[in-house]
Order: sequence, then structure tokens, then C-alpha cells
Amino acid sequence: MPKTPLIKKTPLMEKYEEETGKLAIWKGEVSKQFTKWKQKQEREEIKKEKFNIISQSRIEKKKMKREAKEDKVPGKDYEHLIVVENLHKTYLLGTTAVAALRGVDLTIDTGDFVDIMGPSGSGKTTLLNLIGGLDTPTRGKIFLEGRNISMLNDNDLAEIRRERIGFVFQFYNLLPQMTALENVMVPLHFSGNLSRRGKRKRAMDLLRLVGLDERAHHTPSELSGGEQQRVAIARAFANDPGVVILDEVTGDLDSKTGIMILNLLRDLNKRGATFVAVSHDAAVSEFANKVLHMRDGKLTTEGEIGGMKETSIMELKRKQETEINKEKCKSKIFQFLFANQGKTKIKVMEIKSSIPSSIIMNLPQHFEDILQEMIEENNLVAKIDGELLILQ
Ligand SMILES: Nc1ncnc2c1ncn2[C@@H]1O[C@H](COP(=O)(O)OP(=O)(O)OP(=O)(O)O)[C@@H](O)[C@H]1O
Ligand SMILES: [Mg+2]
Repeated sequence: MPKTPLIKKTPLMEKYEEETGKLAIWKGEVSKQFTKWKQKQEREEIKKEKFNIISQSRIEKKKMKREAKEDKVPGKDYEHLIVVENLHKTYLLGTTAVAALRGVDLTIDTGDFVDIMGPSGSGKTTLLNLIGGLDTPTRGKIFLEGRNISMLNDNDLAEIRRERIGFVFQFYNLLPQMTALENVMVPLHFSGNLSRRGKRKRAMDLLRLVGLDERAHHTPSELSGGEQQRVAIARAFANDPGVVILDEVTGDLDSKTGIMILNLLRDLNKRGATFVAVSHDAAVSEFANKVLHMRDGKLTTEGEIGGMKETSIMELKRKQETEINKEKCKSKIFQFLFANQGKTKIKVMEIKSSIPSSIIMNLPQHFEDILQEMIEENNLVAKIDGELLILQ
């Protein structure tokens, strides 16, 4: 019996032998030269793949530039405030390509409050960044106020962001050394049409709009989280933008303050402001008139999408799913309370964060209402007092 097991010749070994005239298997073992040759082949394969991806995206970009030139600039004469057509975004990470958006179509009209929901990694922020001109797509088009912004250069995009788009982020992003008033004035520095006095007045009016005129001379560290977010909202409106982008704006706030911010946004929306929001907070969708759901880089048909109403069967299915989630949510609350027996005060937020976001994100009601319902159904001696659940 031979000691070494018999090695079967692979097609790659055959290729090696053909190319080099050497044997791939020598004395029953794979030859070292073959292993080296194989590694070199693999390295070259990776290089080729990388080159393909890069040159492919170059060809795409050239094609898009050509198309963008052909799209006339209709100025104010447009049907929808924002039109997104077959939007793709692929990120290149070393040799791998991550397809974050895989063909998104939607329209947004002036006065809409759009909420984009979906699991982590589904492409929400990517979509928001493209709509907000913070990044450019790999393929597809974005029209803002009738202008194709998908192929603009960095300077033109920066101008659009400054003049036509307002941004509010999760962590407020205020300048810490400046007062609330000065923070709201920052975007106005770039607008030449107002005098310094005019800018101060506009900033003050905006702070009044968010109910913070009396705090105008406070710095961010002297303001609560909710107040800082209101300053950020006032700042987003400074240049009278066509659309305001909201990325997880209630993400860092407790649920009560979050609802306060949402009420403010609803007020502003009723006065004509257009919002596009991304959130994990199910409450946001209750304030929106269009709710879009994303999964794996695509929009799933739900709510009003591109002006298309969901069918009654889809609506029924969605409602059934949210009702199931509500029951799951109640049983998770029960488990949490059981594990925390003996405590007399528990933060509602703490209970909420013990529940998987896939459930929280798809509830038919506010989490607090479900908690209340669950307390009543189980005759628990407990009551919700602001941010706390008091147990006796
Ligand atoms: N700059 C980047 N480079 C490479 N991949 C990225 C980049 N940004 C996002 N991705 C990938 O693209 C996909 C979509 O990411 P995105 O941030 O849009 O998701 P999301 O829906 O906003 O998620 P979350 O809810 O966690 O914020 C993910 O797989 C992510 O890893
Ligand atoms: Mg995100």
C-alpha cells in the first residue's frame, strides 16, 4: 500500500502542465511550483475582477454624464419636486462590490412628509444621501425641482445642498462654541442677499418658529437634547430649502421628546415644508403621508409609493403583520418585566430597547399605547408616568 493517498488531477493542474510543461503532481504530492503558480493565478484573477468593476463603473459614469447633458433643465416647470429613476448605488470595498441600492423608483411632491423605513443595512441612508446630494449614484437619475442632480460635480452639488436642501441629523451637529442664534445664522453666511441685521432677524424668526427665541443666546451645552434638535431644525430652514432631509432625528431622544419633535415637524409640514425622513422609530410613520419600506436595496410595495396606493390585499397583509408584531411586543414586555421583578421604577425606554427593532419598527400603534394596553389586559398594578413605568 502506498503511504501517500492518490491525488486526483484537477483541470487547473492540467492547465498548469499544459502551460509550463512541468508535472503538477510529483511523487504522489502536489508540487510546490504548482502551488505557487496557482496562487499567482488567483492574485491575477482578483486584479482582473477589480479592474472589471472599476472600468464598468467608468463606462456607466460616462453614459450617465452623456444622458444628463441631454436632459434639459426645465427650471421651475416640473411635475414632481423629486423624481428618482432606477437608482443604483454600488460601493466598492477592496475587491468586493456592495450593492446598497438596486433599482429604486419614487416621486416626492411639495408638502409630502415621506418616511423611509426598513431593516439595518437595507439602503435607507444611502438613498437619503443620494437624494440630498451628499453622494452620487452608480446608475439612475435624481431630479430635484426638475434638475438632474445625479451627475453634477462636487461644486454644483455643494451649491444645491446649501441652497435647496436642509439637513437634520441624529446628533444635532451644532457648533458647540456658538449660540443657538449664531448656529441658525451659519447657512445664511453664504446667502448674499441679506444684510447682517436681516440675517439675525431671519434666524430669530426661525427660532421663534421652533419655540426657542428665548434661548437664542444659549450655547448647545446649555440646551436639552430636544432643544438642540429644535435649533438644528430651525437651521435646516435657514435658506428656505425645497426639501428637508431627516436622518434618525428622534434616534437620540427619549420617546416623549421624540414625539414633541415630531409634532413640531408636523406643524411645519402643515405650513408647507417637505420632509424626507429615515427612521427606526415607528412613531415617525404616523406623522408621514407616504411610508416607503426598503429591503435589500429595493423598495417593497407598501404604503403610497411613487403616487401608487397600496392594494387592499397588501394593506390587509401589512395590518395582519403589524398585529402579529403587537402580540410579540406584548410578550417581550412581559418577559422583560418578569426578569426585572422587584423593581419599582423602570424606564419605558429601557423596556422598549429590550425588544428587537424588527418588532418595534413595525407596530400598528405607539409603543407606549401597547404597553398601557398590556398593563390593563393583565391587571398589572402599574402605571406609566412620563418616561417611567411605576410598579407597586
Ligand atoms: N461607504 C460605504 N462603503 C461601503 N459599503 C457601504 C457604505 N455605506 C453603506 N454601505 C453598505 O451599503 C448597505 C446599505 O447601507 P445603509 O447605510 O444605506 O443602510 P441603512 O438602511 O441606512 O442601515 P441602518 O438602519 O443600519 O442605518 C449596507 O450593506 C452597508 O454595509
Ligand atoms: Mg442608516
